[in-house]
This record gives sequence, structure tokens and C-alpha cells, in this order.
Amino acid sequence: MTSPPPHLQDRLSKFGQEHVLRGWDALDADTRTRLVQHLSAIDFAELDALRHQATKPPESVPADIRPVPITPAAFTAEETARGAEALRRGAVAALLVAGGQGSRLGVLKPKGTFPAGAVSGAPLYQIHAEKVLALSRRAGRPVPFLVMTSPATDTDTRAFFAEHANFGLRAEQVRFFQQGTMPAVCPHSGRLLLEAPGKLFLSPNGHGGTLTALADSGVLADLVSHGVEHVFYFQVDNPLVKVCDPGFIGRHIGTGSEASSKVVAKTEPGEKVGVLVATNGRCGIIEYTLLPKHLAEQREPTGELSFRAGSPAIHVFSVPFLERVTRTAAGSLPYRTALKAVSHYDPHRGETVAAVGKEPNAVKFERFIFDALPHAERWLAVETPRAEEFAPIKNATGPDSPDTSRAAQVALHAQWLKRAGVETHGHPVEVSPLFALDADELAARIPAGTTITEPTVLK
Ligand code: UD1
Repeated sequence: MTSPPPHLQDRLSKFGQEHVLRGWDALDADTRTRLVQHLSAIDFAELDALRHQATKPPESVPADIRPVPITPAAFTAEETARGAEALRRGAVAALLVAGGQGSRLGVLKPKGTFPAGAVSGAPLYQIHAEKVLALSRRAGRPVPFLVMTSPATDTDTRAFFAEHANFGLRAEQVRFFQQGTMPAVCPHSGRLLLEAPGKLFLSPNGHGGTLTALADSGVLADLVSHGVEHVFYFQVDNPLVKVCDPGFIGRHIGTGSEASSKVVAKTEPGEKVGVLVATNGRCGIIEYTLLPKHLAEQREPTGELSFRAGSPAIHVFSVPFLERVTRTAAGSLPYRTALKAVSHYDPHRGETVAAVGKEPNAVKFERFIFDALPHAERWLAVETPRAEEFAPIKNATGPDSPDTSRAAQVALHAQWLKRAGVETHGHPVEVSPLFALDADELAARIPAGTTITEPTVLK
């Protein structure tokens, strides 16, 4: 391609975006082709409308927003048996979203490679994959493991799994698919930002991109053809998640729910978790940045927070629901905007401009998976004890950090050991998913009266 297509040049000048072609003559053929591909896919009018959202005050929450009805996670034996049976007949897949950039944690590699195991330092990907492997052994068949990556995490994630022989999973059981991207723009001028000459500044389009990516990659069609009926959705940052929890899946199936979500009681009004709410008989999640303070602080006569249904981002979606949503709504889920400070390439100055402190110089656009929840006709919220299932790693220090997560893992496993009659003498013990997935399995595998004399990994 010697020069940019004329119709593209016309569109760029109509929307004041010609700067992205500066230095075209010096670009190599691949960069030119990719740039033209990316630019051709952009709806500039839509992008500019979205950019204006970022500088407006946050939208107000619906007037009839109510606390969501919650069922407790004490699953019955029947529910657990129903979920286990669904796993045995191959009706359940696990879906891990791992396309985020881990910028708050300050890591350059995908967050899944981060050492999270309390004693072993096992990476998050290993912990999740071994849960899927343990479940597959219990089910007597390989539970499909879908891993959503983004251009920011794809190559490293695939390489990491390959290097570790898929952590024991069969190659055909693990399916990687990539989410899409959105360009970032200047908050003031709406101009597209560049990462390097001829290279747009692109970011993952949010975990809401899971839906279109599932459909576009053909993964959803494959799930249907293999008889998968339910997809267990979880985030890479939480090593405590009970992947494909049979009781949860059993309740989801038994209630005929299209979308089921776990919730944990918020610890305080300002905790940074989304909150499940009911609006107009539908379920939805209001992100913590958008929940008004008076609602976040509202309390019941019992003293409990009214809007306490914090989201650990653990859901089960029925496959027909995913098919319907991807067909009808996924492409029109709202984009949320975030103002960020980023280093980027300035084509006028011909140099990279570093971010100045936290001064925002970019608007990024993301879709959220939970904006699909209001499309569910039947839904369910199940409260799960935080100590058993939610210890995310988000920040380098302080709350939700590697330290708090490791402490929570050790505390949970100490409780399992105590129930099994094992004395730990305060030594940290990590129970590998391949040794036991829960307290009962642990009690069956380790003799009561066993004594732990040093930091230990049971595997
Ligand atoms: C998220 C939820 C919040 C919830 C909390 C629980 C959002 C906006 N908020 O917050 O409601 O209470 O988790 O821990 O999600 N990801 C992608 N692609 C992307 C962006 C993210 O796959 O484009 C993945 C990440 O890899 C990660 C997960 O989504 O697994 C969460 O992303 P993150 O941006 O860290 O969300 P939080 O702000 O922590």
C-alpha cells in the first residue's frame, strides 16, 4: 500500500484525525496495513459521542433501585448432586477472564502469571487450572477451560501455559480466545492517541468484550455443539474462587436461572466492589464508583448495609442466555469511560510524551459483562462467605494485595485442617487443589491427629 486509501483520508479529515497518518512514508508495509485495518473499523462519530460521556457527571442510578433478594450459600445435598451430575455429563465449562492489564498491581506480565500461592508461590493460572483438573478427575471427563485473553496478555498467557504443559490439563481441553480492543482518545480534542508511529493506542475493550469474543471466535458455537449448557465465569485475580462450585451450579439449574451471581457481604460502605441490585424486577450491578454515598451507607433496622450484595464477579450463565445476548444485546452494551494518564507518541513532535503524574490525558472505553445481567429473565443471587471464596489480588500493597490474599488462603486452609483434626502449630499450610478442593475432601485424605511442623504445601 503506497498511500492510504482516499476514502479513509476523507473520513479522517472529516473527523479531525489526520494526525494519525503523519509519517506514513516511513512506516513499513505491515504497520501500514494494520493501521488502515484498525482505522477502517472505527466509528468516529460514535467514538466522539462516547468521549463526551467521560467529561460529564456520572449518570444517576435508576429511581426504583432496591437491594437484591439473596439466598444463602448453604447448598442442599440435592443441589450439589445436581451440579456434580451436570459436570459429569459435560454440561459445564469454566471461563476465566484474563484480558486485563494488571496496571494497579504494577506487573508487566499477565496477572495470571503472578505468584499467588501462600506457601508455594504458585501462579494464579496454575491455581485455577489445577482446580479445573481436580474437577475433571472428579467428573470423570475433561471440563472445558476457556481462557479469554486480550492482545495485551495473549502471547504471554499461551506461552506460560505451554511452558507448564497446561498444568496437567489436556491441550484440547484448554481454549484461548481473544477479546477486542478500543482506541484511546485525548479527553479534550477527541483525537486518537498513538502508542508509536503508525500504531494506535489500543486497550482491551473490557470484560463485556467476552460476549462478542465468545460469538466471533466460534467458541460459543462449539460449546453448543459439545452439549455445554452452563458457563461458570470468573476473574483471574481471585485464588479462592470455587471454580464450577457444584452446589452453585445445581441451584442455578434447579431454579431455571439464566444468570446466577455469587455475592459477598460488603465490609464497609466504601468497599471497592460492584453491588448487585434489583431494578424493575431485573438484576444488575452498580459499580462502586457509581453507587451514591447515601445508598452505599443506608442500613437496615438490623444494622446491616441495605446495599451489601458485593460482587466477587462470579457468575453462571446458561448457554441459551449467552446465545440470546450475543445475538441481540452484546454489540450494544454501553461503553463505560475512564480517564487515565498514559505515555503516548505525539506525531507532531515526533516523540513519546510521558504521562505527567496522574493528570489524565486519555479516555479509555470498556464494556462490562455485568451490563448483560438485566437481560436475564430469571436470575439468582447467592451469598457466599467471603473467607471461603474471595481474596482478590488487585493492589501491590494494602487491601486486596498479595499479602491479604495469602493470609486469607492460609486462614481458610487452617480451618479445613482443624476440621480434619490436624494440628498446624500456627505454620502456614497451602492445600493444592490437586490434594483437596474442599474441607470434606481434605478430611478424607489426611489422617486426624497429623501434626504439621513447618510451612507446608499439601499436594
Ligand atoms: C471488578 C468489578 C467489580 C467487582 C470486582 C471483584 C469491574 C468494572 N468491576 O473490579 O464490580 O466487585 O472486580 O473483584 O469489572 N478483564 C478482562 N478484560 C478487560 C478488562 C478486565 O478480561 O478488558 C478481566 C481482568 O483480567 C480481571 C477482571 O476482568 O480478571 C477484573 O478486571 P478489573 O479491571 O481488575 O476489575 P476491578 O476494578 O478489580
